[in-house]
Amino acid sequence: MSRRLVIDTDTASDDAVALVMALRNPAVTVDAITVVAGNVPLDLAVQNALYTRDLCGSAVPVYAGRDAPLMRALETAQFVHGNDGMGDIGLPLSGRTPNEGHAADVLIETVMGSPGEITLVTLGPLSNVATALLREPQIANAVGHCFIMGGAGAGPGNVSALAEFNFWADPEAARVVVRSGMPFTLVGWDMSVRHATFGPDDAARIRSLGPLGEFCIDIQAVVDDYARTQSHLIGFDLPDPIAMAVAIDPGIATVEAHHIDVMIGDGEGRGKDIIDWLDTRRRDNGSVATHVVREAFVTLLTEAVAG
Ligand code: RIB
Ligand code: CA
Repeated sequence: MSRRLVIDTDTASDDAVALVMALRNPAVTVDAITVVAGNVPLDLAVQNALYTRDLCGSAVPVYAGRDAPLMRALETAQFVHGNDGMGDIGLPLSGRTPNEGHAADVLIETVMGSPGEITLVTLGPLSNVATALLREPQIANAVGHCFIMGGAGAGPGNVSALAEFNFWADPEAARVVVRSGMPFTLVGWDMSVRHATFGPDDAARIRSLGPLGEFCIDIQAVVDDYARTQSHLIGFDLPDPIAMAVAIDPGIATVEAHHIDVMIGDGEGRGKDIIDWLDTRRRDNGSVATHVVREAFVTLLTEAVAG
C-alpha cells in the first residue's frame, strides 16, 4: 500500500530535490505540499514549490502557510541558497498560483481525516506544524509519524555554533512540536554532513541522468560555494533529501529513542536541539537518526531523477 505523505517545506535548493524524490516515487502518494517561510520569504517558497511540482508533472495541491515564525521576525537563508532560493540560475519562478486554504488548516484536515495514515515530512521551520498543533492538539495523536529535518543531532550547528537552521529560525515552534506528543524522528544536519554531501564527481553522475538531474544539480550553485567555503565540505550537502529518504524508507536509518527538547529565546543556545543521549532520568519523547545508509539514499535519489 502506498505511503501517504504531507510535506511541509520552505522550498529552496535542497527542499526541491526532496520534493522530486517524493513526487517521482511510485511507492508514495503526496496528499499535499504545505509551504512555510524559512530559507526564503513565503511567496518565493510557494513559487519554488509550484515550479518543482510542475516540473515533475504532478498536480499535487500546494498551500501557503505562515510567512513568519510564531514569535519573532523571519530571518531567511538566502545567503546560503541564493536570493530566489534556487541557485539564482534564472529559472522562471513566478506567476504560479497556490491552492486556496491555509497550510495549517490543510494539515489539520488531512491528518484528522485519515487517523494514523499520514506521514508528515517537515523540511523547514516548524511554524506551520506548530500552528496546526496549537489549533488542534489532537493531530499529535492522529498523525502516523513525523519525520523532521531539524536539529544538529550529534554534530555542530550550521547557522550558529550549536543550532541547525530550521530549529534556529523558529525555536518556539520546534519546542511546541517536540513537546506535543506527536511521534517524530529527527534527521539532523549531522546526517547530511556525514551521508549526504556531494563532490563534483557525484554531482556530475546525477546531472548526467537527464533534465531532472540537471535541475537538481544546477540549483545547488549557490549552496555549493557556501558549503565549501563556510561549512568546509567537499561540496553541497542535501539535508532535506536525506530526511525525505528516511521518511520514504525508514529502514535505511538507524535511530535511537531519547528525550528531546529545543532551546528557545535569543541566547547562544537559540534553537539548539537538546538530546538526552545518556537518558539521564528522562522518558523518551522522540527518536533521532544516528546513521543513514548513503547507498540506499543515493539510490532513492537517482531512481527519482532518472525516472
Ligand atoms: O539546516 C538545513 C535546513 O535548513 C534545510 O531544510 C534547508 O533547506 C534549510 O531549510
Ligand atoms: Ca528546507
